[in-house]
Amino acid sequence: MEKKNIDWAELGFGYIETDYRFVSNYKNGAWDEGVLTEDSNVVISECAGVLQYAQTIFEGMKAYTTADGRIVTFRPDLNGERMENSAERLEMPVYPKDEFVKAVLKTIKANEAYVPPYGSGATLYVRPYMFGSNPVIGVKPADEYQFRVFTTPVGPYFKGGVKPLTIRISDFDRAAPNGTGHIKAGLNYAMSLHAIVDAHKQGYDENMYLDASSRTKVEETGGANFLFVTRDGKVVTPKSDSILPSITRRSLMQVAREYLGLEAEEREVYVEELADFAECGLCGTAAVISPVGKIVDHGKEICLPSGMSEMGPVTKKLYDTLTGIQMGTIKAPEGWVVEV
Ligand code: PLP
Ligand code: COI
Repeated sequence: MEKKNIDWAELGFGYIETDYRFVSNYKNGAWDEGVLTEDSNVVISECAGVLQYAQTIFEGMKAYTTADGRIVTFRPDLNGERMENSAERLEMPVYPKDEFVKAVLKTIKANEAYVPPYGSGATLYVRPYMFGSNPVIGVKPADEYQFRVFTTPVGPYFKGGVKPLTIRISDFDRAAPNGTGHIKAGLNYAMSLHAIVDAHKQGYDENMYLDASSRTKVEETGGANFLFVTRDGKVVTPKSDSILPSITRRSLMQVAREYLGLEAEEREVYVEELADFAECGLCGTAAVISPVGKIVDHGKEICLPSGMSEMGPVTKKLYDTLTGIQMGTIKAPEGWVVEV
């Protein structure tokens, strides 16, 4: 199969239309079988539930070319499971996770020509999503839904690749206690748009959101969980019911313990202790692990000892091990890497 003529190394995190996408419709209480289509347009009622009351959820995953030329994806069952949880919380019908995995693999396979080659620094981003498609005017869940999966080749999420980021503590909240921060609902991202535009205007790469009730604890950024490394080499990640349970973060905690022999702890992380950490990173499918060099707390700069020129040593080991597992140069735990 011949690859598309794309300058893979120059790709940023943007949308490039690929040849096929998967579409399945939910009507009269059941999902249809679904098809691959070349039509990238979505045609829905002007009054569709998603357009009026933001009834939409999504997932993010990647396909990789391994060192020996296979095309694989990473832990798709966990994305399927998380999408089931997101659907339940927004009163949407569940798209069963086994069907989800099949649809994802089928869509990647159909767009094989867009999966960037091994070593190019790019990957094929996969975006499964679902939305309420029939007219809804009273505030209630839709009766009809569409589940879709599209793909787009991407480079690094943050410009500059692995250059350490400068982030700020945000005065805006992302998620409420007992709200929807723990699911992947479009509404959480709409919430974050003003905060990110404002952060960029002020010269910051991202926002560090705090817990909305006490504003003393670290939650996450708009699109990634936090990982910290203590000065004695322990990996720490914030525990909260209002952050997205990142698959990358859960995998990295296991990698830290089982591959690197490090202690790894999920616990509440207080703003007060930020200055004590040795390293900080943002982890997620899009972010992979993006190092943070500086955190600004209302004018007070917290400079991580790992500095502004490269990733800290523990972050680097985590990054190399995770990407090695994803690209097939390091043996993966059972079930993590699924061939397309
Ligand atoms: N947190 C938020 C808000 C996200 O959007 C994402 C991206 O999916 C993550 C964390 C990381 O999750 P994952 O590692 O499953 O991609
Ligand atoms: C992902 O990492 O897949 C996400 O969904 C984050 C998004 C903000 C790009």
